[in-house]
Amino acid sequence: MKSVLFSRFFILLPWILIVIIMLDVDTRRPAPPLTPRPYFSPYVMGRGGARLPLRRVGPAGRRWVKRNESRPQPQPRPEPPLPTIYAITPTYSRPVQKAELTRLANTFRQVAQLHWILVEDAVARSELVSRFLARAGLPSTHLHVPTPRRYKRPGLPRATEQRNAGLAWLRQRHQHQRAQPGVLFFADDDNTYSLELFQEMRTTRKVSVWPVGLVGGRRYERPLVENGKVVGWYTGWRADRPFAIDMAGFAVSLQVILSNPKAVFKRRGSQPGMQESDFLKQITTVEELEPKANNCTKVLVWHTRTEKVNLANEPKYHLDTVKIEV
Ligand SMILES: *[C@@H]1O[C@H](CO)[C@@H](O)[C@H](O)[C@H]1NC(C)=O
Ligand SMILES: *[C@@H]1O[C@H](CO)[C@@H](O)[C@H](O)[C@H]1NC(C)=O
Repeated sequence: MKSVLFSRFFILLPWILIVIIMLDVDTRRPAPPLTPRPYFSPYVMGRGGARLPLRRVGPAGRRWVKRNESRPQPQPRPEPPLPTIYAITPTYSRPVQKAELTRLANTFRQVAQLHWILVEDAVARSELVSRFLARAGLPSTHLHVPTPRRYKRPGLPRATEQRNAGLAWLRQRHQHQRAQPGVLFFADDDNTYSLELFQEMRTTRKVSVWPVGLVGGRRYERPLVENGKVVGWYTGWRADRPFAIDMAGFAVSLQVILSNPKAVFKRRGSQPGMQESDFLKQITTVEELEPKANNCTKVLVWHTRTEKVNLANEPKYHLDTVKIEV
């Protein structure tokens, strides 16, 4: 009796061991790679193209089923071809630069199919901005062009050369492939952008417009709309401008940029505050403008300004022993 029991036990033992080993191997197998987290993700940076976020790869199977029990995954859905939004941001070195760029990147990272064109006012790309972009997790292009010294005076328009460098890059990039849908807008690094704004501008056919908050000495400025057409401007300043609109208040389709290759921001003959009008005059008419944001009755972008930082105590004390980027 005893020996029968023993022999059965020894026959079963290897099978039990095999089952245990198989279960163990199965639980140790690495999970299929997940979509990289948007921040710190290995997007291709620099002069590459606009990239879609990587999709989950890996076999559907037992592990997959186990994983989505605790962590639901978004359903893979067919991607309609979204027009790429190109955001041109002029930027320059100052104490709040990295803070402003961080705020902007945090917004842009939530917008699908956005390509950020960051243009530094500098003779060379700075290390701070290069490092920042490399970790920003956004398809981007890093350009630089210095503002000539003679234009660095109060009262003169700013960022003209930088916006034009962004336009030139865009035109060069699409020289040979005109079919791609895209929308361009000028995203200064101190404004605050609602995510809804990007949904609105993405359907721009030629030139679209919308209200801007906290600008022109008023709570907001907006295009006046009647029967779906822009008929005038609600503004705090020089309503007689052909396009009395802030830089943050319009978007232009890539097609319009490409079919008007000479349209740029002008220095010569341009009066202060006329940048937007001078530019829009070259590519559209008021009648053609497409009102967005519920016929221009919603504010989705604000002309925020960072308070000038107080660094008065910096010279009074010893410098830190480590070098820290701020
Ligand atoms: C796991 O995902 C599959 C396919 O997406 C779905 O059909 C299933 O219901 C999910 N299981 C659980 C427990 O959520
Ligand atoms: C804008 O106004 C036009 C004309 O009054 C109207 O047909 C259209 O539905 C309005 N659009 C929105 C988004 O309210």
